[in-house]
Amino acid sequence: MKLPSYKEARSRKKEKVVIEEYKMPKSINKMGHNKTYYVKTYGCQMNEHDSENIKAMLEELGFIESLDMESSDLIILNTCSIRENAHNKAFGMLGRLKHLKETRKDLIVGLCGCMAQEEGVVDEILHKYRQVDFVFGTHNLHRLPIVLKNYLDNKKQEIEVLSVEGNLIEGMPVKRASKHKAYVNIMYGCDKFCTYCIVPYTRGKQRSRHKEDILKEVKELVRDGYQEVTLLGQNVNAYGKDFDSNYKMENLLEDVAKTNIPRVRFMTSHPWDFTDQMIEVIAKYPNIMPSIHLPVQSGSSRILKLMGRRYTKEEYLELFDKIKEKIPNVSISTDIIVGFPGETEEDFEDTLELAEHCKYDNAFTFIYSPRENTAACRLKDETSLKEKEKRLYKLNTIVNKYFLENNQKLVGKTVKVLVDGHNENGKTELFGYTDTNKLINFNGDESLIGKIISVKVTDAKTWSLDGEYVE
Ligand code: 5AD
Ligand code: SF4
Repeated sequence: MKLPSYKEARSRKKEKVVIEEYKMPKSINKMGHNKTYYVKTYGCQMNEHDSENIKAMLEELGFIESLDMESSDLIILNTCSIRENAHNKAFGMLGRLKHLKETRKDLIVGLCGCMAQEEGVVDEILHKYRQVDFVFGTHNLHRLPIVLKNYLDNKKQEIEVLSVEGNLIEGMPVKRASKHKAYVNIMYGCDKFCTYCIVPYTRGKQRSRHKEDILKEVKELVRDGYQEVTLLGQNVNAYGKDFDSNYKMENLLEDVAKTNIPRVRFMTSHPWDFTDQMIEVIAKYPNIMPSIHLPVQSGSSRILKLMGRRYTKEEYLELFDKIKEKIPNVSISTDIIVGFPGETEEDFEDTLELAEHCKYDNAFTFIYSPRENTAACRLKDETSLKEKEKRLYKLNTIVNKYFLENNQKLVGKTVKVLVDGHNENGKTELFGYTDTNKLINFNGDESLIGKIISVKVTDAKTWSLDGEYVE
């Protein structure tokens, strides 16, 4: 049994990151013969992409994906730690699975993802959630076949969570959710330690993948007809800063654009590492989408300091305005936390003022959620939940107003759309995303799925557009 330790997870050792090729031991590749699996994913794109690796590993073992959780032989929960409600959802599901397991003794339940890296969670699983058969962490995703085999051999709860990262694994199999859009990891972990955030603990120190491995993956996607890649990392602008070389995010972006993949996206950006060179490269290449997620978190310089964000409101706005000026048509989205410990009415007013200035195209807004072991969870927090909810509501009213206003400006214009599939209205309606990452619904034939087409915008809503396909 290997259990997580926050103390170790916090350490940032200088050792060189070693690259290791994924290899599945031959002796276990029939383990899932005739059995079905179901993976439930919580959280961010990083987790969604990890689930694509998990699914492919299970299929190499002979398991078959099932769309019905209740009847599956193996259920894996790929969990998220970012806020309390992500935790609650996963624990709620564990409660449901306990009942399911009472009726189906042979059901196998596994848990992985960010919650698996939390000392407190694993402790609860050990003592209260015995229905969980095995646990593996974010640093040893590739060990899933072995962890599962150990459980099956011993029929005892198997927990293997590493707190220090280990090698960087290349060549993991992947079962991509889409045939035309793909996630490509460019780095793992984060060294920023924003005081509210659990990610540096659950995902470890920053480790960039080698450019050769990234470009090889992108070129294979181009060859397979993929239309879009999203370069993923907790803090993509810091790409390469853990190397000695001068090859940085702007160089990688440029090289990925030169593969001629029709669309390149990237997330998430930290304002601190966003360079002028990056802005230049994004403006220069038409296949780098003019859509940037630039989390601000707060509009108060005082709170930003307490959050450990390393920029002031003024510095953020300077960067924001520069991006708007240099990249034509750019859309900018953000994340904002309200109710950080000690946030006063005045601090909150600063956030509202910033939201009014930035007129974001999209914003994800959250109430601060204390996370175990982070620096902020030790700060005094005297604002009531009711007050925080009021602030969230007020902020949402403002950001929503601008989503609609920005969308309305597009009515009558023709936009390029990568068609994703049918929307919930059934067979005749399709949906896709514009280059500025706006969701658009329109009538069209199934044959358009996976293509980049022109759509004329006919109507604007707060969170989506309606349009007509232009032949
Ligand atoms: N409480 C609330 N929101 C948080 N986020 C990260 N940690 C917390 C927390 N403890 C938000 C940030 C981040 C997004 C992914 O989640 O806004 O950018
Ligand atoms: Fe993703 Fe962060 Fe949630 Fe982990 S904690 S799944 S990195 S959002």
